[in-house]
Amino acid sequence: MPKPKVYVTRIIPEPGLSILKEYCDIEVHQSKEWPPSREELIEKIKDKDGILCLLTDKIDAEVMDAAPNLKVVSTYSVGFDHIDIEAATKRGIYVTHTPGVLTDAVAEFTVGLILAITRRILEADHIIRNGEWNKPWNPYFLTGPELKGKTIGIVGLGRIGRATVAKLKGFEVNFVYYDVYRNEAAEKQLGVKYVDLETLLKESDIVSLHVPLTKDTYHLIGEKELKMMKPTAYLINTARGPVIDTEALIKALKEGWIAGAALDVFEQEPLPTGHELTKLDNVILTPHIASATIEARQRMAELSATNLVSVLKGEMPPALVNKEVLNVRPLDKVKMI
Ligand code: GLV
Repeated sequence: MPKPKVYVTRIIPEPGLSILKEYCDIEVHQSKEWPPSREELIEKIKDKDGILCLLTDKIDAEVMDAAPNLKVVSTYSVGFDHIDIEAATKRGIYVTHTPGVLTDAVAEFTVGLILAITRRILEADHIIRNGEWNKPWNPYFLTGPELKGKTIGIVGLGRIGRATVAKLKGFEVNFVYYDVYRNEAAEKQLGVKYVDLETLLKESDIVSLHVPLTKDTYHLIGEKELKMMKPTAYLINTARGPVIDTEALIKALKEGWIAGAALDVFEQEPLPTGHELTKLDNVILTPHIASATIEARQRMAELSATNLVSVLKGEMPPALVNKEVLNVRPLDKVKMI
């Protein structure tokens, strides 16, 4: 049997490419940094059985229709909002992702953002670098709230939300959470209290977002929600940019509806130079790097490659997104290896 043809939209870390090479004929877009253009993607995918893509590659019905042999879309990310899942399922295309392997990286980063925004760490660094540390020590300089005893509201108690709670436990904070699914086992295990979103927004000193981007979570945090938050509260987003209405957030930060925000994700990425958010002092901005530990990025490569190869072997992949596809095109019908 000829080897399956696979397109990889970026040079991903090892052992990803080695795993793929063992079983497939791979064509790799020769860049670590830049995605293929849409035209190139559509051209390259034409004769492929599988694609390993990144969150920057929009895989919609048009792309799928350009690839009549396509059996699997494996994304090197836990989020899959860049893939039209319904269109894939309808076409019998398996979609896989990388849950679990970046959970700790994102949770650790979230803790970092919480500390950085509340304790003004970046602002402090800038003050020294700009030669503005020109007064002796005093009790009022760069103060911020202590975490101990405060309430942290977790929106979305999935893997990353739960890991964030676990890592924050040592700070002796109280936790409330909101999710469309109530998880009583996690409530007992982690000591988190289930509340509705409105209560969470009203009671929390820090609101941290950990929901996937779907049509239901698009602009979940808008003007109305920001107005419910305490003027002393902070908003943290390591999920997806469009979960927050950026225009409303800018207004909230400018007019003091909330104290500040720490954002790793944006409605538009990269964030355009000179964007209004970059002009505000009460916000920390990082360029979508919450999962950027060396370990997580290697595990993502391994899992995304293993997912893809598993499907083409006719085996259940470790992390299938669209389980319904098993009824549309069973695994023995996609087996090529
Ligand atoms: C990163 O944002 C991911 O979805 O893996």
